[in-house]
Amino acid sequence: MATAVQCVTLNTGQKMPLVGLGTWKSAPGQVRDAVKYALSVGYRHIDCASVYGNETEVGQAIKESTGPEKGLKREEIFVTSKLWNNKHHPDDVEGALRKTLLDLQLDYLDLYLMHWPYAFKRGDSTFPQNPDGSVQYDLTDYKDTWKAMEKLVEKGLTKAIGLSNFNKRQMDDILGVAAVKPAVLQAECHPYLAQNELIAHCHANGLVFTGYSPLGSPDRSWRKPEDPVLLEEPGVLSMAKKYGKSEAQILLRWQVQRNVVTIPKSVTPSRIQQNLQVFDFSLSDEEMKEIGALNKNWRYIIPLITVSGKSVARDAGHPFYPFNDPY
Ligand code: A2P
Repeated sequence: MATAVQCVTLNTGQKMPLVGLGTWKSAPGQVRDAVKYALSVGYRHIDCASVYGNETEVGQAIKESTGPEKGLKREEIFVTSKLWNNKHHPDDVEGALRKTLLDLQLDYLDLYLMHWPYAFKRGDSTFPQNPDGSVQYDLTDYKDTWKAMEKLVEKGLTKAIGLSNFNKRQMDDILGVAAVKPAVLQAECHPYLAQNELIAHCHANGLVFTGYSPLGSPDRSWRKPEDPVLLEEPGVLSMAKKYGKSEAQILLRWQVQRNVVTIPKSVTPSRIQQNLQVFDFSLSDEEMKEIGALNKNWRYIIPLITVSGKSVARDAGHPFYPFNDPY
């Protein structure tokens, strides 16, 4: 039985389902089946990005799941993708979206996000490298990239545009120049990184907030044994027992109950299905607060690279790196 999913309304009037399927880290070869299964059990929101390297398979899954004989129309699915850092130059933006549309076999996106505020060197290398292993940056201003993204809406290539991994100040910079307002800010969010201030700022300015890595991304490649494990948090475990739900469902319910869109990634059918089943129970105000009190501004998603033999945060050296501000 397909699950009915609640939606939020964007400043464009579009409806966006509060739970979507994340596809970051889903291997090509697995993601096609995951997306097909998700659509079959009621998902109507798929979160993609060109840098995930799997949009072709996501596109196959959407193609094979939609059409008159399938009873599902493309228009019923909310599809998001993201502009990668090597395509920030205004002359490169439309081509990047057209490539994503080709891979996804779609005529338009529902939402196109600038994946990060900072740019990498122009060209076709996803991670252009210096000889010491550091990334080759570019100083294209994200406001100029935004102006090029606005044209994509005018051309009907995407219904809405938005931001990802921007801090408050950077978001305000965009709001200051935007003729087309950003509809969504996507950023890491879970009880250890509750993002209360950033979410409040989004909501006050008419943006919907989407939280990625809601389960703490246990499959991240830079995971260390000493990192805190969200899915083993005792308070979350006892709520899971009380409601007859999984720990993951408690973490996802906490997000949707505070109007945060959430995009758990899974390639496992049973998990894909349970991650959508968070609209048939609610947490009490005290339980919402108890989960919120786990906040410790802990980021799981700081990709590491090796530069001159040392492990460093990949993009901390870029002047537009977002995570040095408090939020
Ligand atoms: P898998 O894809 O093998 O099913 P996040 O969305 O925070 O990035 O987390 C994704 C990770 O969490 C993946 O390793 C995924 O595993 C795992 N996962 C997804 N759903 C659940 C669930 N309901 N219970 C436990 N682990 C889950």
